[in-house]
Amino acid sequence: MRFPSAFVVLGLSVGSAIAAPSSTIHSHHVVHEKRAAEPLNWALSHRLEGHKRLPLRIGLTQRNVHNIEEMLMAVSHPESPEYGKHWTPQQVVDTFAPSDESVNKVVGWLENFGFSRDKIKMSANKGWIQVNATVSEVEELLDAEYHVYKHAETGEEQFGE
Ligand SMILES: *[C@@H]1O[C@H](CO)[C@@H](O)[C@H](O)[C@H]1NC(C)=O
Repeated sequence: MRFPSAFVVLGLSVGSAIAAPSSTIHSHHVVHEKRAAEPLNWALSHRLEGHKRLPLRIGLTQRNVHNIEEMLMAVSHPESPEYGKHWTPQQVVDTFAPSDESVNKVVGWLENFGFSRDKIKMSANKGWIQVNATVSEVEELLDAEYHVYKHAETGEEQFGE
């Protein structure tokens, strides 16, 4: 299964994620970005515990993004009939919200995987689908492994794929 209109971003509440070469990739998973080497001074420490919560955020392709410049010009150009008609926050959300098709595909994929509906939430601006998942669930879903990396000098730890 492929989702051309969705990309996956892994959100972590602590620190930022470091992506490193992951495990075997099955045919239906596509790697979009990969680091050639582990970041300088960060060493692999241990596998992230499977039961830990790993909130997942899936970014959806927004509609009308290619028209932003035109829309801004219409509101800001004195000779435009739309001049000064500033948008309400709701208009902004509605204009750029992803299509129902994108949302349904991603939600369907998550439900098929086994996430109950109450674990899947839409962000307020409708740009993201958020999943309350554990490390084990995300690893299985994305066919990846999560590890903790430790900084050589400070001892600070960060999670990475
Ligand atoms: C995520 O799910 C767990 C287990 O069901 C629950 O305890 C926790 O409150 C949920 N977190 C959020 C942010 O919904």
